[in-house]
Amino acid sequence: MGETVCGESVRPLKIGVLISGSGSNLQAIIDAIEAGTLNAEIVLVISSRPDAYGLVRAEQAGLPHKALNREWYEDASRANGHLAGQFKAAGAEYIVMAGYMRKVTEEVLDAFPDRVLNLHPALLPSFKGAHAIADAFEAGVKVTGITVHFANIEYDKGPIIAQMPIAVEEGDTLEMLEARIHDAEHGLYPQVIEMLAQGRISVDENRKVHIDG
Ligand code: GRF
Repeated sequence: MGETVCGESVRPLKIGVLISGSGSNLQAIIDAIEAGTLNAEIVLVISSRPDAYGLVRAEQAGLPHKALNREWYEDASRANGHLAGQFKAAGAEYIVMAGYMRKVTEEVLDAFPDRVLNLHPALLPSFKGAHAIADAFEAGVKVTGITVHFANIEYDKGPIIAQMPIAVEEGDTLEMLEARIHDAEHGLYPQVIEMLAQGRISVDENRKVHIDG
């Protein structure tokens, strides 16, 4: 964890990032680091797909990056063991999932207990799963949102760190709602990682998350 001196974090938090797709949240993290609003260092980006555009973003930012492929995931435990080993070797303190479409298993979770972060495009525990924005839109909810939580073995069920509500407006299309949700994600996710870097986030014995300050 980043050291804290007089409330100021001095050493960047070392994070590994898991992606599968466009990597716009990876980009938001890269941009926040460059802007100086996030005191973190991305030590390794791993994609579950070799064709993920997020790998291009990692390359352009000069970040170490690797890709697994479908064959790796035929044995989920081997794939996750490999991920844990790669992130440990790179010196990652936390793993940040940013649009990662594969399940993390105990090989990763045990190596990084309460140190694997996920971003979900709905207000958990509502609308779990891979189609959360569309599911919320089709259900006709008036408020949906985004959730940042610690990952655990139960999909989309780990301790919630932060949430942001987003109203579904009259006349919204699914695309309009998606755009607002992604904008909100790009703001909130780097902020939560910065809180981790500042050592302000803890999980209590009831598995509830507290944020100091
Ligand atoms: C985001 O909506 C995130 O909430 C979900 O997958 C999407 C990833 O987008 N888990 P990107 O790859 O970061 O652009």
